[in-house]
Amino acid sequence: MRHLFNLKDLSEREVLEIIHSAEVFIEDKITFYGNKVVANLFFEPSTRTQYSFEAAEHRLGCKVISFNKNTSSIQKGESLYDTVKTFSQYADLIIIRHSQNNYYEALKEIDVPIINGGDGSGNHPTQSLLDLLTIHQEFGQFEGLKVAIIGDIAHSRVANTNIDIMKRLGMTVYCCAPDKLQNKEYHYVDLDDVIHEVDIVMLLRVQFERHQKQLDISKEEYLQLFGLNKKRYNQLKEHAIIMHPAPVNRGIEIDGDLIESEKSRIFKQMKNGVYVRMALIHRAFEGSILNDFNKEWTCLQEKSI
Ligand code: CP
Repeated sequence: MRHLFNLKDLSEREVLEIIHSAEVFIEDKITFYGNKVVANLFFEPSTRTQYSFEAAEHRLGCKVISFNKNTSSIQKGESLYDTVKTFSQYADLIIIRHSQNNYYEALKEIDVPIINGGDGSGNHPTQSLLDLLTIHQEFGQFEGLKVAIIGDIAHSRVANTNIDIMKRLGMTVYCCAPDKLQNKEYHYVDLDDVIHEVDIVMLLRVQFERHQKQLDISKEEYLQLFGLNKKRYNQLKEHAIIMHPAPVNRGIEIDGDLIESEKSRIFKQMKNGVYVRMALIHRAFEGSILNDFNKEWTCLQEKSI
């Protein structure tokens, strides 16, 4: 079953295959799935993931079932498994976002493909894939690039997924975070020590809704100590880019004036979300994606990834 729960389940080759497939969709090589039904089960709030999946489904001609947990039988105590098993009787593909880490462990035997749209503070594989597509469009490779991942790493499923896959693809990953927002699994450096050498600045939203304790600094202090302000922007390399999965806390992790600055790719990431999700829907329905990928993969391996 072609579920997508976690990028750890994919080889580097499969990750690159999905990015390549998204690039084909950018070129408008549309496949049509007018007979397929997709159910979007979002148990947590979402704008980008939910609606870019919906846009991808519409672009591919799929029929879309949207789900409202507040008017579903979840309110009568139905379990996640029973809800998803029910939708597997109606739909050919299921997209799920849920607040529980690894919720998908209980769903592996469901016999329609499931794509993880984010699990608690665990994984966000589709976000990572659109981030990788954005980096690939910019630099044409991954090997040797340096990225600073900055902010609320403790609560970030985006950070967890990106740190692992970026290292696997040969990138150097610097983690920068205030003490209270560190996940102790990683090593941390001072942002001001690396800002001038990185190719990518990846900011993370401060996830106030997941915090047990209040940060003991003001929002203004956070921007000055840990965020991307104008002083740090001016230290970036000429070709460096700014990324953020969004939603953005303007004036906290980034100065609001920089969100649409020349180096920012934040809205490009959102657009790329549609193409990556089209590629993942295609993968779910078709299996291995591209006939000509073997040839290109060989070239990529010869040049390094
Ligand atoms: N980046 C992201 O996952 O945004 P949403 O929570 O709006 O889907």
